[in-house]
Amino acid sequence: MRLIIKNNYKDCAKWTADYIAGKIASAAPSKEKPFVLGLPTGSTPLGVYQRLIELNQKKLISFENVITFNMDEYYGLDDKNPQSYHYFMWENFFSKIDIKKENVHILDGTASDPQKECEHYEEMIKQAGGIDLFLGGCGCDGHIAFNEPGSSLTSRTRMKTLTEDTIAANARFFDGDTTKVPKTALTVGIGTITDAREVLIMMSGLSKADALQHAVEESVSQMWPVTILQMHKSAILIADDAATDKLRVGTVKYFSGIEAKIIDSYERIFADK
Ligand code: GLP
Repeated sequence: MRLIIKNNYKDCAKWTADYIAGKIASAAPSKEKPFVLGLPTGSTPLGVYQRLIELNQKKLISFENVITFNMDEYYGLDDKNPQSYHYFMWENFFSKIDIKKENVHILDGTASDPQKECEHYEEMIKQAGGIDLFLGGCGCDGHIAFNEPGSSLTSRTRMKTLTEDTIAANARFFDGDTTKVPKTALTVGIGTITDAREVLIMMSGLSKADALQHAVEESVSQMWPVTILQMHKSAILIADDAATDKLRVGTVKYFSGIEAKIIDSYERIFADK
C-alpha cells in the first residue's frame, strides 16, 4: 500500500485529480475500450471533482470514453431529492464534464426490488470489464462506501443498515436532523471495491485520524473496513497532515521518505496545468 501525505486538503485533492486524469489519459480510452472509474460522494471528493472539471473545461482531459459507477445511494431517495447521491453527482460533477449520460451508473434508491437492483449493478460492472480505478472517501469509523463496521470484507453490492454514527455524521446534509437521514442504503460491497484494479482512498482532517491509523498500522478487521486495503495489490491512501495525527512518527517518516523519491508519471502529466 502506498501512503501519500500532503500538507493540506487542497494539495490532496489536486494530487488525486491529477493522478486520475493521468491514468485516464495514459489508458487512451476508446468506445471499444473505455476507462471504468468508481466514484464516491461526501465532502472529501469535492475538491477532486472541481479540479477534474477544470482539466476537462481546459480540454486537457476528456470523459467521453469513461464509464462511472458510484459507490452508494440512500435507499428511499429519488434522483430529484437534493440529498440523494444522484443529485449530488450531477450537481457537483457530471453536469459540468463531457461524460455521456448512458455511461453514468448510480444505484437506484427507489428500486422496488433492491436485491435485484444490486445484483444488476454487479452484472453491469462485470459487463464493463471491471473497475480500473475506484476512488473513495472514508468514514471516521473506517467505513468505505456504506460498508459499516462489521461488514463482511468480501461483501458484494447490497442493502445496508446505517450505524447511528453514520446517521449522526451525515445529518449535516439533512438540516442537522438525524430523523431525516435514511436508515438504509444500497452500497457496493467491500469485495466490489477491492476487485477494482486500483483503489485510491482519501482521508482529510483530524476526524479521520483514527481511521487512518487503523488503515496503516493495525490489523485487517471487519470493524475497520478500510483496513482491507492492506490486502490489495494496488492501493493508495492519500491523507493530509491533520489526518496523520495518530500515526507513529516512524510510520510518517517511513512513508514520506519513500514518496519523496517517487516521481509519479501519472501525476506529472497535469501537475503544472
Ligand atoms: C458517507 C459515504 C462515504 C463517505 C463518507 C465520508 O458515509 N457513504 O462514501 O466516504 O460518508 O464522507 P466525507 O467525505 O463527507 O467525510
